[in-house]
Amino acid sequence: MTRTPLIAANWKMNPAPPEAFNPDSAYRPQSGIETIVFPTFLDVRACLEAGLPTGAQYGHPDSTGAHTGDVSMTMIKKTGCQFVLCGHSERRRDHGEKDSDVVAQAESALRNGLHPVICVGETAAERKTKRHKQVVERQVRVLPLREMVTIAYEPVWAIGTGVTPTPEQAQDMHAFIRSLIPEARRETTRILYGGSLTAENAAEFFEQPDIDGGLVGGASLKPDVFRAIVLAAVQTKS
Ligand code: 13P
Repeated sequence: MTRTPLIAANWKMNPAPPEAFNPDSAYRPQSGIETIVFPTFLDVRACLEAGLPTGAQYGHPDSTGAHTGDVSMTMIKKTGCQFVLCGHSERRRDHGEKDSDVVAQAESALRNGLHPVICVGETAAERKTKRHKQVVERQVRVLPLREMVTIAYEPVWAIGTGVTPTPEQAQDMHAFIRSLIPEARRETTRILYGGSLTAENAAEFFEQPDIDGGLVGGASLKPDVFRAIVLAAVQTKS
C-alpha cells in the first residue's frame, strides 16, 4: 500500500515567508508529494489566493456563536481551506485543550468536509517514566479515525528544542500508533513525524516505513530548508 508523502509547514504565530508567494515557491503543489501550509488566520486568504494548499491551525467545533477570538470549522471550510490542525500541543498547553476538545474539533472538521491533521505526543516526563505509549494510546483511542484523518506524532520535548527521538524510536511509536488504527484504514492513514525536523535529519526519519512525512515548525519558515525537507521526502519515499 502506498501512502502519498505529506510535508506540512506549521508557521505557528509567525508571518508567512514572503517567498512562499513566488511562482516557484517550495510550498507549491508538486508531483509525487503533498504539501500544506498552516499560516495564521490573517494569512490564510493570501495563501489560498496564491494557490497554496492551505489549512488552519485551529478551528472551533461550533459553526457560529459567542466565542470571541475564535473561527469555526464551518468558516474555515467556506474560505477554501481543505485542512485543519487539531490538538497541537501548543494549543493543549496555551489554551488548556483536553482530549475531549480535540475530539470535538476533529468531529466538527469531518462534519464540515475538512481533513483534520491531529497531533498527539508525550511530554519529556512521560517518556522518562516510560508512560509515552500509554499517553499516546489514550490520545489516539478517543479520536474519530475516519478516512480523511491524518495523525501527527509530535513528542512535546522535541518541539522547538533541537532534540529529537532517534528515527528508530520514532518508527517504534509510529508503528504503535498504526496498530491502534482500525484495520480498514490502517495501511492508508498517514502518520507524520513532527519535532525539530531539519534539512539534515529529515531523510533518516522519512526512511522509516511508518513515517509518511513531516509536520515542520521552525524549519518551515525558511523556504530553502523547507524545499530540502520536501526533497528528502520525495527521494526517500519514491
Ligand atoms: P519545530 O519543527 O519547530 O520543532 O515544531 C514542530 C511543530 O510543532 C510542528 O507542528
